[in-house]
Amino acid sequence: MDKIEEIEVSGYSLFLGDMKHSLAQLLSQYAGAQLFILTDSNTLHLAWPLIQSCFQDRLYTLATIPAGEPHKNLKSCELVWAQMTDAKLDRHALMINLGGGMIGDLGGFCASTYKRGIDFVQIPTTLLSQVDASIGGKLGIDFRDFKNHIGVFQFPRAVLIDPIFFDTLPYKELRSGYAEVIKHTLIADGDLWPTISNLQTLDGVDWAGILRKSLEVKRKIVLEDPYEKSRRKLLNFGHTIGHAIESQYLQSDSPLLHGEAIAAGMIYESLLSVQILGLDQTSCQSIIRYIESIYGPPPPLDLAATIPIMRQDKKNQAGKISFSLLESIGQSKWDILIDESELANYNFIY
Ligand SMILES: NC(=O)c1ccc[n+]([C@@H]2O[C@H](COP(=O)([O-])OP(=O)(O)OC[C@H]3O[C@@H](n4cnc5c(N)ncnc54)[C@H](O)[C@@H]3O)[C@@H](O)[C@H]2O)c1
Repeated sequence: MDKIEEIEVSGYSLFLGDMKHSLAQLLSQYAGAQLFILTDSNTLHLAWPLIQSCFQDRLYTLATIPAGEPHKNLKSCELVWAQMTDAKLDRHALMINLGGGMIGDLGGFCASTYKRGIDFVQIPTTLLSQVDASIGGKLGIDFRDFKNHIGVFQFPRAVLIDPIFFDTLPYKELRSGYAEVIKHTLIADGDLWPTISNLQTLDGVDWAGILRKSLEVKRKIVLEDPYEKSRRKLLNFGHTIGHAIESQYLQSDSPLLHGEAIAAGMIYESLLSVQILGLDQTSCQSIIRYIESIYGPPPPLDLAATIPIMRQDKKNQAGKISFSLLESIGQSKWDILIDESELANYNFIY
């Protein structure tokens, strides 16, 4: 990617393109500042070498925490805060979070709370973190068994997005992030569907155009409704059932990645969309065929196991389960409330 595109989101910018160029410019704005770079045990070896040369004339602290969601916790925060303290970072320091959504969420949270907050920049290195976590200002950690239970809304100084990081990303991780691209298309960008639904493999994809369009969907929605009071709920399409399936399989021998569960959730919620919002059968079939072609058939929907999990969903209202569903490809509606006793009356078999 040669050209750098700047996409403005509430008070900060996403720079899409050669991130080394954007990073060099950004670092020049922090000429005298202390620099603190956070990686996980994978991005230390796979992503840091791609940006290391930008720091050659600078003093910096490079910190690493273990990779993976189980480490998105208070213990890792303590490790990071301890290293920030040992490095004697002052309030003018800049933190650079180099990793997937786990590093972005945790690193951003540590930056926002250290000495009541220092500037931070996100360099997301997975498809999921580039297309989803990069916009919206949600930061935080898991606590006990609750995902993202402790956190804040805070915006980074900038987000540098470059698909060059996908070169080392395992296919399963790429595919997991791709579920959010499919979701953005289905809820709000019908024009992108023909392009998306023609991609039969994620190998060798030219990501720049897809990232731009997908980011635009999330940007527009988040700008309209930053605190998820209304329209931002659309981003939950596939997530009510998807999250429940993800939790159901969490303790199994074959846990699902987030995006794999959301892909299954989008299939089942498309079937629900036909029955509740009149999504046409042809569109529903094309959604199901495409998702299956990328992810394989979804796990069967076990309502007895998933309803108790859906009952805990934060979006629920008046004791009913809340869904965001499709009216057509590219058009969707939020706050569709269904009584849990009625869910079994709908057909989830195809
Ligand atoms: N803040 C938000 O709005 C938001 C939105 C969506 C998801 N999230 C959070 O993001 C997290 C999931 O994000 P994720 O899927 O990026 O997970 P992740 O950060 O755990 O990354 C997944 C795996 O890929 C590895 N990895 C990262 N970049 C790599 C690269 N370039 N090459 C090789 N390996 C690489 C990581 O080390 C990890 O093992 C969850 O914690 C979720 O809650 C946050």
